[in-house]
Amino acid sequence: MKSIVILISGRGSNMEAIVRAAIPGARIAAVISNRPGAGGLEFARAHGIATMVVDHTAHSDRAAFDAALGAAIDMHEPDLVVLAGFMRVLTDGFVRRYEGRLLNIHPSLLPSFPGLHTHRRALDSGVKVHGATVHFVTAELDDGPIVIQAVVPVQAGDDEAALAARVLAQEHRIFPQAVRWFVDGRLQLEDGRVVLSDAVAQHGMALVVPAPDAGAGA
Ligand code: GAR
Repeated sequence: MKSIVILISGRGSNMEAIVRAAIPGARIAAVISNRPGAGGLEFARAHGIATMVVDHTAHSDRAAFDAALGAAIDMHEPDLVVLAGFMRVLTDGFVRRYEGRLLNIHPSLLPSFPGLHTHRRALDSGVKVHGATVHFVTAELDDGPIVIQAVVPVQAGDDEAALAARVLAQEHRIFPQAVRWFVDGRLQLEDGRVVLSDAVAQHGMALVVPAPDAGAGA
């Protein structure tokens, strides 16, 4: 059984998707938030999952916070640490400590649009496709070997909320998938890239969601 700790900062809908996926061979050992009021904590408690708060405002600097966070995580001896909408920049030391077992989801097709406000920036730039990425975490912000991406169309008339909702629906598909692959021991790093142990399945590492009228009238 692989033990997983999930870090959240807010709503926690990605955490919820992973919990609901009920991945065979995986146990969610704890959900930890850096914000006491994070909505996702309620869901975790209601599902009998241990919750903890490591409040970043109670720590003098990033290093002190990361040390406290690491101590909280290590109590659960996780095989995998999942950043599910965890909105803190982590120190190099923290990232190194969990190297190879730290997954993040980011709401863009990395390496495009790292950082904040990804949907607004995608709309402003005029890209025709947008999406989300699950990746192993490295010391660079929103960077690291890519596990799976979901691609969605940007549609005429989209505003930030509409695009965010379309992307989020796909986040809820690809994040549990990435965790499942990790738990099954199928993710391997080769030259800084992620490969699935079963070559046939490489196709599954990009999930393309067509526009509603795609194919019609072709
Ligand atoms: C998600 O869209 C996730 O991709 C994003 O925060 C949201 C959290 O939603 N993460 C980042 O921007 C990290 N750079 P959730 O709390 O409902 O899962």
